Amino acid sequence: MQATIDFINKRTGNFVPDIALVLGSGLGEFTKNLDGITIEYADIPDFKTSTVKGHKGSLFFSELFDKKIVVMQGRLHFYEGYDLKDITYPIKIFKKLGVKTLILTNAAGSLREDFKPSDLMLITDHINFTSKNPLIGKNDDTLGERFPDMSNIYTDSMQEKVKSCAKDLGLEIKEGVYVMTTGPSYETPAEVRMFKALGGSAVGMSTVPEAIISNYLGMDTIGISLITNYASGISKNKLSHDEVVEVGKIATQKFTKLINAIINKL
Ligand code: HPA
Repeated sequence: MQATIDFINKRTGNFVPDIALVLGSGLGEFTKNLDGITIEYADIPDFKTSTVKGHKGSLFFSELFDKKIVVMQGRLHFYEGYDLKDITYPIKIFKKLGVKTLILTNAAGSLREDFKPSDLMLITDHINFTSKNPLIGKNDDTLGERFPDMSNIYTDSMQEKVKSCAKDLGLEIKEGVYVMTTGPSYETPAEVRMFKALGGSAVGMSTVPEAIISNYLGMDTIGISLITNYASGISKNKLSHDEVVEVGKIATQKFTKLINAIINKL
């Protein structure tokens, strides 16, 4: 990790971020009006590059409301063929750089009729439906425990902060359990019924590995999903990535407002 950290510190002039933000679909434009330093993943030692259409691949260092932030513009997914270790490597680097709070965002399919496309959902907990875990392998005891507790990943105090920001903005925010599958195929209607029966509220293909590592490293973790579609079988429509991107564009303003308010409040 030292080579990665040295490279980033050299490029940023030893910038020490407090908050890291991972942009999912619907927040791609978050940094549009901000000044900052951009570093392409491709240039960073040991970073992998995202291959998904509509996802950028760079880190962005900036200041917002007197908070120092680092933004992942484009995340890595398991379905791209990366190991969960590669996907979560940037999170470990953020911790080493000084980050205390990680905000994870994503696009997700709704498992419930009352969670509609363009709704925002605060993640209260998750179900890892991938049978994979980024902590498999030899543990580095200097980073975290071998068997880390996962009973309060998206901490109550962070959830309260997000809810109070939404309230101040007059934005409705749903609350629910995020289910992660590996993707890249969308779910079948039978799988969607199963996830719902298991207690899931929304389903997607990211976020869980980063949240596990964030909690393991002792960072405060916030997760927010943008509901982009009803999951398979809930509506009669066929699912498409274009639909996900389109709803992301429509909801981007309110999503951006909420994230700004959260950063201001942290
Ligand atoms: N399923 C899985 N991942 C998703 C979906 C979905 O319906 N929508 C956006 N990401």
